[in-house]
Amino acid sequence: MNRDFILKGTFCDCGEDRALRIRAGFGVCEGGVCRGIFADIPEKYAGLPMRDCTGMLILPGLVDLHVHASQYGFRGAGLDRQLLDWLNNYTFPEEARYADVGYASEAYVIFAGDLRRSATTRAAIFATIHTDGTLALMDLLEKTGLETRVGKLNMDRNSPDYYREASAEASISETARFIEEAKGRFTRTQPIITPRFIPTASDELMRGLGALKRRYGVGAQSHLSENGDEIRWVAELCPWVKHYGDAYDQPGLLGGDTIMAHCIHSGDDEVALLKERGVFVAHCPRSNINVMSGLAPIRKYIELGLHVGIGSDVAGGDTLSLFEEMAEVVRASKMRWQYVDAQYKPLTVADALYLATRGGGAYFGRVGCFDEGYEFDAIVMDDSAIKSGMTLADEARVERLIYQSGRCVLRAKFCAGREIDLA
Ligand code: GUN
Ligand code: FE
Repeated sequence: MNRDFILKGTFCDCGEDRALRIRAGFGVCEGGVCRGIFADIPEKYAGLPMRDCTGMLILPGLVDLHVHASQYGFRGAGLDRQLLDWLNNYTFPEEARYADVGYASEAYVIFAGDLRRSATTRAAIFATIHTDGTLALMDLLEKTGLETRVGKLNMDRNSPDYYREASAEASISETARFIEEAKGRFTRTQPIITPRFIPTASDELMRGLGALKRRYGVGAQSHLSENGDEIRWVAELCPWVKHYGDAYDQPGLLGGDTIMAHCIHSGDDEVALLKERGVFVAHCPRSNINVMSGLAPIRKYIELGLHVGIGSDVAGGDTLSLFEEMAEVVRASKMRWQYVDAQYKPLTVADALYLATRGGGAYFGRVGCFDEGYEFDAIVMDDSAIKSGMTLADEARVERLIYQSGRCVLRAKFCAGREIDLA
């Protein structure tokens, strides 16, 4: 099956208003682009090959807006720590080992394989400070057929000697080499500028990265307002900024092609700036609860019109499963409503699905639903192994799929109409 085909089944996506839409019928993919969902196959598509997935739920591919490939090895470990302690004791020692390209490649084979077999079709990924290991990860990701953005990290201060770049200048020139090599080598796997966070990036480095962003026209990703100690540290390191977000904005790192993970404790001015710049917020509730960072005000961001998607944030998050992350999105919003701020109602399952599809998908263009003209990213989910005496309506099946994803089987996955090998 090349990129012209038809899927028959029950299509479940979200409208612009975040409402769930269920349509049984025929989804047409032409040249990797969705031509719509039809009750009957239109005459002009009658000759296309058809895959019969009757009885299955077909959802848009899921988008992971924030994940650390280099942390996959210790997922589920060290989660009794808070962020800065966890970074020093688990993250930095492990990421430092990726200086050895052999070690990095072995670990990245496991990550790329698991991502390929997951329900995720697109992801924005952090690697480590090492250019060659990061390019090795990109080689593996390119072969999966998924669409990804991948960052070599920048760190030139406040981390142990064994995991820090020699200088701002060295970090900037390595990043230029990284971007040039990656741009020439890959199509689906694009480089993205990735200062780890402000505490580990000097002012000179940040200015250099802003200049690289402008020169190469690439996106950027980082962490913002995740943890109280981190925020106080940034205020000490950069006394001239209006707020943490301003430390990214002054060197020119915030734009419509920027992803900022977390934004849990952002004040009104910071939120207004994120909106003005068109920044994407990557909401990572599993991580936020694991490393005790807090509960982000996501309904408020949605109502204000910010771009929001979901990130697994492995290994602050303990799983690549965006189904499990969606369940956590809903749970975290209930906790926030009950214990932090009753002004904003909890998020619904449809809201969570919207964030995991259209919300994060918009970072990649026209991605995240089955409207005409959107790239054809789809996952075919078989929920028949969930035994129940009841017959559920399709809407309830989608909800159950999210909470019972471990019992469901991904039968097929497509990214921009390319079928992804799930073996
Ligand atoms: N802030 C800086 N580095 C990290 C990281 O690796 N994970 C998380 N969750 N936050 C960070
Ligand atoms: Fe992170």
